[in-house]
Amino acid sequence: MSLLYRTILRPAVFLQDSEKAHNRIIFALAKTSRSRFLTSILGNLYSSPELPVNLFDLDFPNPLGIAAGMDKNGAAVPSWQSIGYGFSEIGGVTLHEQSGNPKPRMFRATAEKALVNRMGFNNIGASAVNNKLKDWKDRGLWPDSPVGINLGKSKITKLNDAPKDYSGSLEILWKHADFFVINVSSPNTLGLRELQQSEHLESILNACQKTNNKCSKKEEKDPKPLLIKIAPELDDNYLKDIIKLIGKYKLSGIVATNTTIQRPETKDSNCKKVYSEEGGLSGVPLRDRSTEMISKIYKMTDGKVPIIGVGGIFTVDDAWEKIAAGASLIQLYTGLVFEGPGIARSIVSGLKKRVASEGFESISDVIGINS
Ligand SMILES: Cc1cc2nc3c(=O)[nH]c(=O)nc-3n(C[C@H](O)[C@H](O)[C@H](O)COP(=O)(O)O)c2cc1C
Repeated sequence: MSLLYRTILRPAVFLQDSEKAHNRIIFALAKTSRSRFLTSILGNLYSSPELPVNLFDLDFPNPLGIAAGMDKNGAAVPSWQSIGYGFSEIGGVTLHEQSGNPKPRMFRATAEKALVNRMGFNNIGASAVNNKLKDWKDRGLWPDSPVGINLGKSKITKLNDAPKDYSGSLEILWKHADFFVINVSSPNTLGLRELQQSEHLESILNACQKTNNKCSKKEEKDPKPLLIKIAPELDDNYLKDIIKLIGKYKLSGIVATNTTIQRPETKDSNCKKVYSEEGGLSGVPLRDRSTEMISKIYKMTDGKVPIIGVGGIFTVDDAWEKIAAGASLIQLYTGLVFEGPGIARSIVSGLKKRVASEGFESISDVIGINS
């Protein structure tokens, strides 16, 4: 199937502008998601074998999730499990609806299997996403696999008011997600990455945990796991501060990493052009940097803070490397664009075989073996 995608479907998809192609695919998946029959066909073609992970008291059918940014509005929530993912992360969602940066804002560097994007959190806003998620539940189409929500800051909100913006979205969406990711690392909203500095971050985490506890009391349920997503460029001092705050505010984990603002050397003229665009780079050139961050966090925390590893996962070996570096769960975005819908099944099947052939009892026994 992936050969069919690479030889016939991908060239056709890649003739289109990358954001238009993305929107068409999400539109098709959104339609498919409304029909149990169609999602079961997708499941027959693409579902992954079981490779269970239990984390945050949640059961993940396998450790590979769809990363934030792919399904910004929760339009295709039921389909991600059908095409093999063990969990999904919806969003980035902001408190206010916003259209994002001017187009074009997503570019393919095909020769190097990379994307540059400066989307700028285009999304329908927390209330509308809440309605969408409620609708999936009301229709009985909610997946068995966990669903997380990635929270961003609205463009119109000043950095000092960020705590209200993040906690406002959290309150609106609290009921529906299994976990939340506080995203302070997108390069595409002016000043957002400054929120990784501890004085800003402390007030955001404080506000979000207060809201989390308030909602948990109101709904008579446990507080939801809150994670933080970080940039691959974060230096050791900032990282140490963030790890301290994770302890202080009882966060459940770290998502490492978001896209990079750095650019690799390239001889390919199209890639050169794409790399000169402003925005965050994802895909193969991000892979090793992201794995290094995972390994560093794993060592700094003695493996005590769960990590979701993301950045440049295309193959079974890439996925294994991230887990062996210290990731409990992994995610991908760019790999799906370049390798097509068979990628999740292929990676999860490969991980399962390797767990058995190397004599491990479960995939969780692989976490951190190389760090
Ligand atoms: C077009 C696009 C939009 C993205 N939007 C978000 C977002 O809204 N929130 C977020 O935390 N990460 C976002 N990301 C980053 C991905 O979740 C992921 O961290 C990054 O792409 C690295 O993974 P990959 O190499 O598998 O793509 C986006 C990535 C792309 C390519």
